Amino acid sequence: MQIRILGAAAGGGLPQWNCNCGNCRAARRGAAHVQPRTQSSVAVSAAGGHWFLLNASPDLRQQLLGCPALAPPAEAPRGSPIAGCLLTDAELDHCTGLLFLREGPAFHLLATATVRRWLEAHLPIPTVLAHFCRPEWLELVPGAWQALLLPGGAASGLRVRAFDLDGHAPRFVAAEHAAGGVIGLEIEDTRSQGKLVYAPGTGAITPALVDAAGGAAAVLLDGTFWDDDEPVRLGIGARSAQAMGHLPVCSSLPWLAAQPAAVRVYVHINNTNPMLDESSAAHRRVDAAGVRVACDGDTFEI
Ligand code: MLT
Ligand code: MN
Ligand code: ZN
Repeated sequence: MQIRILGAAAGGGLPQWNCNCGNCRAARRGAAHVQPRTQSSVAVSAAGGHWFLLNASPDLRQQLLGCPALAPPAEAPRGSPIAGCLLTDAELDHCTGLLFLREGPAFHLLATATVRRWLEAHLPIPTVLAHFCRPEWLELVPGAWQALLLPGGAASGLRVRAFDLDGHAPRFVAAEHAAGGVIGLEIEDTRSQGKLVYAPGTGAITPALVDAAGGAAAVLLDGTFWDDDEPVRLGIGARSAQAMGHLPVCSSLPWLAAQPAAVRVYVHINNTNPMLDESSAAHRRVDAAGVRVACDGDTFEI
């Protein structure tokens, strides 16, 4: 399986248009020690040039233009190698990119029933897309393995199993928590049996996450904040990292560093996170633990 980080940053990207934190200022002036990053999305492929997106960020157009493997196939007037998109939640930074797929062919859109319900009620992307490319919705049922099929029904060489995380609801949804609101994904290459675990938003190292990561060759984990107090201390929000549903890196690093996976990576990194600065002690600590701070364009093969 090929894994490509399309965007390594959390919502807002790096630099964020209205942010004056140290990282955003450094990235804006082109400092070599803080790489700019687009918003949270990953692409995976088993073979045959077919790709599945894991979340679709508002930077999707730029991300696709920057990735030759995701360009239209040469033989058709128009087309796309994107076979489907899997959503881990209903957050704006993970869903709004779906609107940029409207010009293309139909694709499979996989989400839990909760995420689909939240979108239909509060962010009518499904209603809008029904007038354009008409994606086919497929339900991700946590706990069950399901094949990832190409739009015509052929095998893609990948299968997926979703697992429930804490179910934290987006800000624009009135609910607090709901099962299926935030999931992690276990994706397996059926030929090589290499497994990827993708959990860009998690409030805890849950038993299901531990179980999935134990057999994985690659783990991409929530790296939003460095410590719990970061959003409040830096004046960017009133809620702590944990109150926003994000386990800080300080707390998850010992666990991630101890995982058997050869590829251990933080994704969905907020622009305030000090580990984004390659000259920082935080970055050195993550690096010394054998964990990568994802950059846009990182590719891994498992
Ligand atoms: C999150 O990851 O917590 C959300 O994307 C935050 C947001 O931008 O609303
Ligand atoms: Mn987010
Ligand atoms: Zn910033």
